[in-house]
Amino acid sequence: MPMRTKHPVYRHDLYSASAIRDTYPHYAALRELGPVVWLSKHKVHALPRYAECKRVLLDNETFISSDGVALNPIANRMGQGTTLCSDGEDHSRRRSLLAHRLTPRALRTMHDTVDQQAAAVVTAAVAQRTVDAVDLATTLPMSVVPDLVGWPQRGREHLLRWAGATFNALGPVNRQALRTLPASLGMLRYARDVVRDRSVLEGSMGHDLLRASDEGRIMPTECATMMIDYLAPSLDTTISAISSALHLFATHPEQWRLLKADADLVPKAVNEVVRYRSPIRGFSRTAAHDTDIAGVPLPKGSRVLVLYGSANRDPLEWDDPDSFEIRRDAARQLGFGQGTHGCAGQGLARMETSAILRALVERVDHIKVAGTPQWALNNVIHRLERLPLELVPA
Ligand code: HEM
Repeated sequence: MPMRTKHPVYRHDLYSASAIRDTYPHYAALRELGPVVWLSKHKVHALPRYAECKRVLLDNETFISSDGVALNPIANRMGQGTTLCSDGEDHSRRRSLLAHRLTPRALRTMHDTVDQQAAAVVTAAVAQRTVDAVDLATTLPMSVVPDLVGWPQRGREHLLRWAGATFNALGPVNRQALRTLPASLGMLRYARDVVRDRSVLEGSMGHDLLRASDEGRIMPTECATMMIDYLAPSLDTTISAISSALHLFATHPEQWRLLKADADLVPKAVNEVVRYRSPIRGFSRTAAHDTDIAGVPLPKGSRVLVLYGSANRDPLEWDDPDSFEIRRDAARQLGFGQGTHGCAGQGLARMETSAILRALVERVDHIKVAGTPQWALNNVIHRLERLPLELVPA
């Protein structure tokens, strides 16, 4: 039992409103305490350092996802049937049904469209000059992903609220999670209607799923959960990465000048943004049998919390981890996860974020913060809610 183990205890609420808005000091305190820290408030073993996070992500036989990756039993039950919350063959089967849509080859066919859309979004923003960068960051994912998944036009206005709520529900049961629970159920209800009415767009991922169900490769009930599987994680995450990139380049003008001088740095910059400001705070795993991490015994059934955001700032892994430096080799960052559950959509996310950065480099001389940024209050997504910026044209 956790009380009998000797590892350090952290009593602060990692999911209080203030900790959500300013998480990095908590991560630093956790890393300082040790490789495995018992969060007494949330009854989970947090892994704040890089080495242990990576080890757990790569050992998916010991640390399983099918008991859910959330921090509360309701979300863990509701997550059953998703790719995110399955293991072994069940997981491979689900993942293979849609993975072909997101391979580098499949993405190449979308490249020009994404580039053109990014150029249009940035041109319009530069014409406005002062913008909320979160709006700018929202437009591209919203115009790419719902079409790819095949969501009908009707109901799209709710997508962002539903997706944000779905992430909130994956944290502990706190005020944020309860406030947004009805909205996360809304997405599931809507997805079931879409599958029942077969109103998915022709040729989309949703369409592939209906066909798989018609051919008996998946259960009809799995169609709706799997649509959410690809829709829920694909909006806020990318919006986070794009808006964080804009914020970081506004506040680090020397890094912006480096990027302007050499646009080939864009892919490295994307890794560094996701390292420095990881869009997903953390997901959990359950020990399938008695085990240990860094000498700390973990009986079967123990839940561990992989803190991607903290691992990505671990000084044991990174030189000067709190400095934003786009020339560093951040390819091993864990912001997209790693191993068998590593983000299925990272190629698309990288493509969207890169397209926006390239469009900015071409059209903007420098970026200035034009008001106080506000952080979103979300248990799992780490992103800005509002970011007034001035885009000074080139
Ligand atoms: C910057 C943007 C993104 C970030 C930071 C991100 C992050 C992550 C992370 C950390 C995981 C691993 C979960 C785990 O370890 O249990 C994950 C999984 C996943 N992501 Fe992403 N994601 C992003 C964008 C996307 C997009 C655009 C899509 C879809 C088009 C997507 C679809 C998925 C799916 C389906 C999984 C589950 C994979 C599995 O369990 O096998 N993500 N993502």
